Amino acid sequence: MEIFTLNDGNQLPAVGFGTVALKGASGVNAILSALNAGYRMIDTSTNYNNEGAVGEAIRRSVVPRNEILVTSKLPGAAHAYDQAIEWIQESLYRLGLDYFDQYLIHWPLPKQDKYVEAWQALVDAQKFGLIRSIGVSNFLPEHLDRVIDATGVTPAVNQIERHPYFNNQALVDYNNQLGIVTQAWSPFGRDKLDILGEKALQPIAEKYGKAVSQIVLRWNIQNGVIPIVKAASYKNQVANLDVFDFELLEGDIALINQLDRGEEGRVEGQHPNTYEEFD
Ligand SMILES: NC(=O)c1ccc[n+]([C@@H]2O[C@H](COP(=O)([O-])OP(=O)(O)OC[C@H]3O[C@@H](n4cnc5c(N)ncnc54)[C@H](OP(=O)(O)O)[C@@H]3O)[C@@H](O)[C@H]2O)c1
Repeated sequence: MEIFTLNDGNQLPAVGFGTVALKGASGVNAILSALNAGYRMIDTSTNYNNEGAVGEAIRRSVVPRNEILVTSKLPGAAHAYDQAIEWIQESLYRLGLDYFDQYLIHWPLPKQDKYVEAWQALVDAQKFGLIRSIGVSNFLPEHLDRVIDATGVTPAVNQIERHPYFNNQALVDYNNQLGIVTQAWSPFGRDKLDILGEKALQPIAEKYGKAVSQIVLRWNIQNGVIPIVKAASYKNQVANLDVFDFELLEGDIALINQLDRGEEGRVEGQHPNTYEEFD
């Protein structure tokens, strides 16, 4: 698998595994199956109510802990400095781990105006050894500028919504300008948007002898973006890793870029300046 190097020197695989809705015993089995399929970066969050299942899958897996990169995210209710530190520790207890490979602020919640404190907590938790790479999620340029100005520390990653109907390219460009690696959430638009059924993508898929899903993942990787993709079945999990034996031509990347629908294209209209979730 291709590798991305972060501004802190740590490295990430070019495809990550998303775990939304993978819970309980069936969730543990799906995550174990993903590790068997070859995923090495597992993305969870306090908000997904499955940190325990992720930790259980890691313990049951034959893949050693130090070969698995685990990401979790700080809930909106815990942006205050002391609460953030406690939440990072609580999340580690839930997972049964003693460090995170990545830990992100899940949403900026600018109306609450506490994300700078939260960022300072992540900066300090990294120094204490609780987190290897610190980052953010759903941060817009003004949020990035503010945390960097306040602490002098640039996030290593910004995990944002990105798929062909909402390619978020200006934010990807801004991340690139700051040396921040972009991760794309909902690369297939979840089960809310029918991106995998998009007619304009069918001929591109046929041209390369690949599935539309694989074209979308490749489009991200060739744009320097790491897709975080969720699949419950082993078949889909394997297919989503089979994206390293072909290269999209520039013209096809441009065609995919043209599918962007701007704000209308978001999966659930979650604009980071107004969207708030606290868990
Ligand atoms: N930072 C944030 O704010 C944020 C927000 C949303 C999501 N995320 C992260 O991003 C991850 C991915 O996003 P997502 O879960 O919203 O959705 P997604 O990855 O865009 O789509 C998942 C859907 O695609 C299906 N699928 C997967 N591979 C397929 C294939 N090869 N062929 C056909 N269908 C396929 C899955 O089906 P099955 O599962 O039935 O196989 C599931 O219904 C999340 O799980 C989470 O880790 C982060």
